[in-house]
Amino acid sequence: MTIEIRQIHPVFVGEVSGIDITRPLAPDDVAAIDAGMDRYAVLVFSGQRLTDDTQRAFTANFGVLESSPGGHIATAAERRLPLDMQDASNLDKDQKPFARDDRRRMFNLGNRLWHSDSSYRAVPAKYSLLSGRIVVERGGHTEFADMRAAYDSLDDSTKAEIEDLVCEHSLMFSRGALGFTEISEQEKAMFRPVRQRLVRTHPGTGRRSLYLSAHAGGIVGWPVPEARAFLRDLTEHATQPEFVYSHKWRQWDLVMWDNRQTMHRVTRFDETLVRDMRRTTIAGDTMTVAQAA
Ligand SMILES: [Fe+2]
Repeated sequence: MTIEIRQIHPVFVGEVSGIDITRPLAPDDVAAIDAGMDRYAVLVFSGQRLTDDTQRAFTANFGVLESSPGGHIATAAERRLPLDMQDASNLDKDQKPFARDDRRRMFNLGNRLWHSDSSYRAVPAKYSLLSGRIVVERGGHTEFADMRAAYDSLDDSTKAEIEDLVCEHSLMFSRGALGFTEISEQEKAMFRPVRQRLVRTHPGTGRRSLYLSAHAGGIVGWPVPEARAFLRDLTEHATQPEFVYSHKWRQWDLVMWDNRQTMHRVTRFDETLVRDMRRTTIAGDTMTVAQAA
């Protein structure tokens, strides 16, 4: 088999064929996928019957797996999956959909907002890999926005204005935007804001991108409402249809994306149905800017 990548959207996203990612990969295949990630920012693999173990093994080709503490309100005892797998399902430990008013479900609804995974961590994530184990027929798509194309299409004065801006990111901001504001003191401490540059430069390609996320709730040195209004303007610009790909899931798809170059969100679906999605994440290797003392 020879690996092939075909671009399936005008500005980004590659569909990968000629590879079985449930088996150990040859170094050339890993290099081809890494190069594909640099170029397309999102890669789609289909027909990959991954288990947790084979998903972990495939993920480990691209770096160190991120572990979840600090990323959710669910306690360790409530977790359905081990700490190195992020649970993107709507299920509790007994594999049952959450009740409509379950606090964990309401927290997860933050994933309906455009975001970049782990932008609320001082060292934010590099790649995310999402495996569709049980998918729903209607809705539950994952939409992606190309933040390089979004940056490139800004006018020069906006580019100059945002060049050195630094944002504050926290899970409290994305959840707060949906009215999820009942957060304990312990959770507040866990969700303490971190700083991220608004403009990032990709280490592999040198391309610039807008580093936006629903987790961004302020710009250092700006009044909060002014910052949020501006971040909202930039997000609208970045998520206009020409920069967006919507992935309609089939069972056993694996979609891999570069959080440094894209945002994503899940679309609405019938949450009384089982949707079992499992994510592994490659940790980033550096902060985008020094943190506040
Ligand atoms: Fe996400």
